[in-house]
Amino acid sequence: MTGGVSRKCSVILVGFMGAGKSSVGRAMAERLAWTFEDLDIRVERRELRTVAEIFGECGEAYFRRAECGALQELLEEVDGQDKIIALGGGAFAHEATRKLIESAKLETVFLDAGVDELWLRCTRQAEAQEIQRPMLGSRGDFAGLYETRRPEYLKASFRHETTGKAVDEIAAELIQLLRLKDEYC
Ligand code: S3P
Repeated sequence: MTGGVSRKCSVILVGFMGAGKSSVGRAMAERLAWTFEDLDIRVERRELRTVAEIFGECGEAYFRRAECGALQELLEEVDGQDKIIALGGGAFAHEATRKLIESAKLETVFLDAGVDELWLRCTRQAEAQEIQRPMLGSRGDFAGLYETRRPEYLKASFRHETTGKAVDEIAAELIQLLRLKDEYC
């Protein structure tokens, strides 16, 4: 794409666990004075329980349906709004959810990073008890899941490398890449 974001200004951030979707999304929204939405939080609000509880009580397949339903609701509300939306790590790899996004015609950005760095970010967050991730698993499972999902993430409109970069730096780069501050919005 050469002309920046033109039709609607909402942007969806996708990528694996630890990619920084929520923190970068928040930083972008702050810089742009847009609103930020984290799909996992919407799922939790709709379900009145945490993501970890949903996985523990009802399993992954149920969570994927809940995630897809929450995204549908969000996309119905988003029309024409300036919003940065962060998905959970499995959402864009789930066909029904990805199809919903494709039909909404919003720009999607794959926040990419090497699997070693993703693992490090996630294990640090787990140690600090910042985020409970039911899909984290072992280092080997994590790498396997990353490889399986990567081709799906590459279906996003943009791929942006984040390895070794700080949240604010990535946010500024994405605003420039997507030309979110120029006449296209
Ligand atoms: C998941 C990632 C999580 C959350 C859920 C499932 C996954 O989001 O949606 O635990 O399947 O990769 P983050 O990518 O924000 O950790």
